[in-house]
Amino acid sequence: METCGKCDRGYLLIRDASGHEQAVECECRKQIRLVVAMDEAGIFPEFRPYLDPQCKTPGMSREQKDVHKAVQDYIGDLKARVVVGDGFYLYSAARGTGKTTHLLMILSVALRAGYTVRNIHWWDLMRVMITEPDELEAIKDVGVLMIDELGKEGAKKETDFPRAMFDYLLRHRLSRLKPTLLASNLEPAEFDEKYGTGVKSLFTKHIRVMPMHGVDWRGT
Ligand SMILES: Nc1ncnc2c1ncn2[C@@H]1O[C@H](COP(=O)(O)OP(=O)(O)OP(=O)(O)O)[C@@H](O)[C@H]1O
Ligand SMILES: [Mg+2]
Ligand SMILES: [Zn+2]
Repeated sequence: METCGKCDRGYLLIRDASGHEQAVECECRKQIRLVVAMDEAGIFPEFRPYLDPQCKTPGMSREQKDVHKAVQDYIGDLKARVVVGDGFYLYSAARGTGKTTHLLMILSVALRAGYTVRNIHWWDLMRVMITEPDELEAIKDVGVLMIDELGKEGAKKETDFPRAMFDYLLRHRLSRLKPTLLASNLEPAEFDEKYGTGVKSLFTKHIRVMPMHGVDWRGT
């Protein structure tokens, strides 16, 4: 690794008055570690400029404002919300309204606060479920889990597999009071149709369902 100029290999050598030496991680190395952790957690570069909860957002609809406020409240009370397993289900058929960005805000703050976090696209999650049992074990129990593009199977004909897997994963996390954040293009009713009422009924108690129609931020 290239050294930063202020330190050598990421550590500063601190010596106190009695001559005790300590190696202390430098700020730039901490910054690098955070970026690496964000990469590994699925907090992608595209969204990073917008993850400060105070970040200025393009014009927002009523629903977008409500979600923004709900996310800010969650972040303001992070520890208490995480410990009871509070989560979200943000949805809009429309693209680019900020669902992913808002859930990543929570993930990014939780990461800095020391929780294990992971954002995974629904397709990747299905692949992991089929071919990577060890990774699935890790994902099941992360401190805060985000599943993006939920319900986007891409195939016309649904199989029972995604439904059963999602049901399993969500129940696993709900019973352990672990937060799950979900973003989807499916309305709750459509979701229900695809995944069964048993799963949707779990939402009301632990997962706040919020519509997020409004301004397409990609178009602004
Ligand atoms: N505060 C902001 N200012 C400007 N652009 C932003 C801001 N926050 C997010 N964006 C950008 O807006 C785009 C759309 O946001 P986002 O991806 O969160 O929407 P989405 O609802 O998840 O869309 P989709 O349904 O397509 O997944 C992203 O490319 C993101 O980089
Ligand atoms: Mg998205
Ligand atoms: Zn340094």
